[in-house]
Amino acid sequence: MPQATVWRLQVVMQQSTVWKLQVVMLQATVWKLLQPICPVDSRLSAPEPEQIPLRTLQFKRGLLHEIRKGNATKEQIRLHNLVQQLPQAIIIGVRKGGTRALLEMLNLHPAVVKASQEIHFFDNDQNYARGIDWYRGKMPFSFPHQITIEKSPAYFITEEVPERIFKMNSSIKLLIIVREPTTRAVSDYTQVLEGKERKNKTYHKFEKLVIDTNTCEVNTKYKAVRTSIYTKHLERWLKYFPVEQFHIVDGDRLITDPLPELQLVERFLNLPSRISQYNLYFNATRGFYCLRFNIVFNKCLAGSKGRTHPEVDPSVVTKLQKFFHPFNQKFYQITGRTFNWP
Ligand code: A3P
Repeated sequence: MPQATVWRLQVVMQQSTVWKLQVVMLQATVWKLLQPICPVDSRLSAPEPEQIPLRTLQFKRGLLHEIRKGNATKEQIRLHNLVQQLPQAIIIGVRKGGTRALLEMLNLHPAVVKASQEIHFFDNDQNYARGIDWYRGKMPFSFPHQITIEKSPAYFITEEVPERIFKMNSSIKLLIIVREPTTRAVSDYTQVLEGKERKNKTYHKFEKLVIDTNTCEVNTKYKAVRTSIYTKHLERWLKYFPVEQFHIVDGDRLITDPLPELQLVERFLNLPSRISQYNLYFNATRGFYCLRFNIVFNKCLAGSKGRTHPEVDPSVVTKLQKFFHPFNQKFYQITGRTFNWP
């Protein structure tokens, strides 16, 4: 079929959402016609992600997008060999480390499919009691050669989670995105503060929560402080998983220069390097990198990501930094990744 006819057909079809799926199907047919006479049946021997041409994966992403919007029948799902796979990698934390940005940026990779919502399967007893099939049912449709990733930052700090994940898949890859601990604690506080303000409630100042007024020491009972003691949580995880199964992402660098961090993750996940500078552009209004999927579709993260932090008393900042210092040293030692944290 001549290319011009294909394009004309596409334009007409794009007038309704249902038609859009058919456009994708048509592209598939055209693509198939362009293949050699005897192509290898991908269902017989699913190729590794490295062997799959980018063009094919992009077509597949288009189809998945339509399916997510509910525009596919069960028959189409079956025909295209789509599956809901348990995650092969999980972003387990850390809350306010940049978990959403990391998930969305990894989703730029044609071989990655994200679970959009935080599923809270392993940290929520009620969800966990629903069983593994419930969890699988929460996963997005994907092609068998793609990998599914979910993120639920509460996993990192919840006691029962490492054992539960280990029982599901002892060789799963675990991603942890961290930020300088004091900044992360302030970010955590800012999120709670905003929630209170939205409900017209008053809230304590950060300094009051973070310092124990009786001892004048750092208040280790305050959750935002405890969450930032990364090594304490990681040590619990290491009772189940070897350190090689974790990859630490620098959340501060993901803000300022995301591509190198994403390339390290691609390598950790054994994926070919496909996320490029083209996919990431700095948006001066937002003050953050935003995502470019293709010539027409780009997006920035929601406004709830990248809040203005309140001013914090510098002496309290110093006290916190001193408090976190020995824990940070231990964290570097265990993970083999060193940061320029104070
Ligand atoms: P702040 O709101 O403190 O700036 P999480 O998704 O784990 O809740 O993390 C939120 C943090 O992601 C934000 O914290 C923000 O700094 C960081 N972030 C990293 N890259 C971002 C991006 N491209 N757009 C918006 N926020 C980003």
